[in-house]
Amino acid sequence: MQTYTVETFEEWRGIARQLLRSRVSPGDVCFHEQSSQGSLFDAAQEEQSVAAAEATTVISVPPKFLNLARVVACHRDPDRFQLLYRLLWRLTTLDSRLLEVHTDDDVYQVRRMEKAVRRDIHKMHAFVRFRKVISEEGEQFIAWHRPDHRIVRLAVPFFARRFPAMNWAILTPDESVVWNQTELVYGPGCSQRDAPAPDELEDLWRTYYGAIFNPARIKLKAMVREMPLRHWKTLPETEIIQELLDDAPRRVAEMIARQEGHARSAADHLPAELTWDALRDAAVICRGCDLYRDATQTVFGEGPTDARIVLVGEQPGDSEDIAGRPFVGPAGDVLNDALAQAGLNRAEIYVTNAVKHFKFERSETRRLHQKPSAREASACRPWIEAELKLIKPDILVCLGATAAQSLIAPGFSITRQRGEFLPSDWCGSTIATYHPSAILRSPTPAQRQATLSLLVDDLVRVRARLNEITHGTVS
Ligand code: URA
Ligand code: SF4
Repeated sequence: MQTYTVETFEEWRGIARQLLRSRVSPGDVCFHEQSSQGSLFDAAQEEQSVAAAEATTVISVPPKFLNLARVVACHRDPDRFQLLYRLLWRLTTLDSRLLEVHTDDDVYQVRRMEKAVRRDIHKMHAFVRFRKVISEEGEQFIAWHRPDHRIVRLAVPFFARRFPAMNWAILTPDESVVWNQTELVYGPGCSQRDAPAPDELEDLWRTYYGAIFNPARIKLKAMVREMPLRHWKTLPETEIIQELLDDAPRRVAEMIARQEGHARSAADHLPAELTWDALRDAAVICRGCDLYRDATQTVFGEGPTDARIVLVGEQPGDSEDIAGRPFVGPAGDVLNDALAQAGLNRAEIYVTNAVKHFKFERSETRRLHQKPSAREASACRPWIEAELKLIKPDILVCLGATAAQSLIAPGFSITRQRGEFLPSDWCGSTIATYHPSAILRSPTPAQRQATLSLLVDDLVRVRARLNEITHGTVS
């Protein structure tokens, strides 16, 4: 019997790959959890074992399973790694379609765990409440939360996207995480005593909830049912629900008037029912941020709505703004060239942008591209989210930092992290690469060539991944 101590998905994956290669059956291996908390997330150790395993790996594992395992690894059940290895073994040696057999006991268990972890992530998103703390370093917002499962790393990118421009920290018994407006920094777990006591921020939250409250949407019964008691007790806004309901008619009128105010986003303009026609029609008249004022028109995505690949650029350029179609100007020519070199057919791909209106500054003769701010990208995100929800692509390609920071992680760096498949909230196989405009901006022909060939390399990787997904395997 071989015994392993495993805490994280990455550790498990490294060991599982080695075991599988040596044909060690699940009955001959035993996975344990570590008892000391100190080295739970020893990144160096983790990276080493994964790198060692990946260097020699030849085993094909369906990407669907890896995505599932990444989620289930966060469950607190001590048997989760054993179950995952058993499934992996059966899947790779006996039945590659095992995950579709819902009556199978192992499949049933793993789906149950997956559901519990996803629900817990959803709850963390809904129930974390920050308190304002003033220290020498300035203003910080701190929240305490006790998740049921070890979901911190899966759940917090959401907060970095939602609150990119403030310093905040979330403390949990498993680990803590700090957002410094650039990256997420993880540290050891804390007890509730380390979290700040209730203070004037209670009032701030009351005001906030009072302000965003949409009485038309309130489902009091559903809220109470969804919310475990321990969260319910700590939510200051529950005290004011009745007050808000009494005040509903005036608030509705005020909310309509405020649409032109500054806390807006495309979310205010989404159609009630998500269909392509409704979505395109609604985007035409979006006023989710100020960019619609100077631009000619909304440039929505284009391509087959059942495409397996979605490409996301930054925002329309000058030509796109006039034509009303994405990537039809100089950047589009570079993109077409790179796609052709990689053997990909643009006609089969859905092409869109993270921001749907052209942002520019006027010079005497031209309209000069300006990068959209993180606020504008976040105001516009509901459109791309809706497109991705409808298409459900197998592969999501972010062209450039704006798309990658909006859809993968706020601190994402193209130079450091391009060319790698990562799971994102929108697609299990998400990859970021250079924006075609980066090639147009390169100062020398040699640099242009070098950047173009990296873009082509990444698109070749996309094509290979697509094949692997088609054949149900990924290495
Ligand atoms: N650049 C982009 O990001 N998108 C376009 O549609 C055109 C240029
Ligand atoms: Fe709406 Fe996006 Fe245009 Fe802003 S950029 S007005 S959010 S479509």
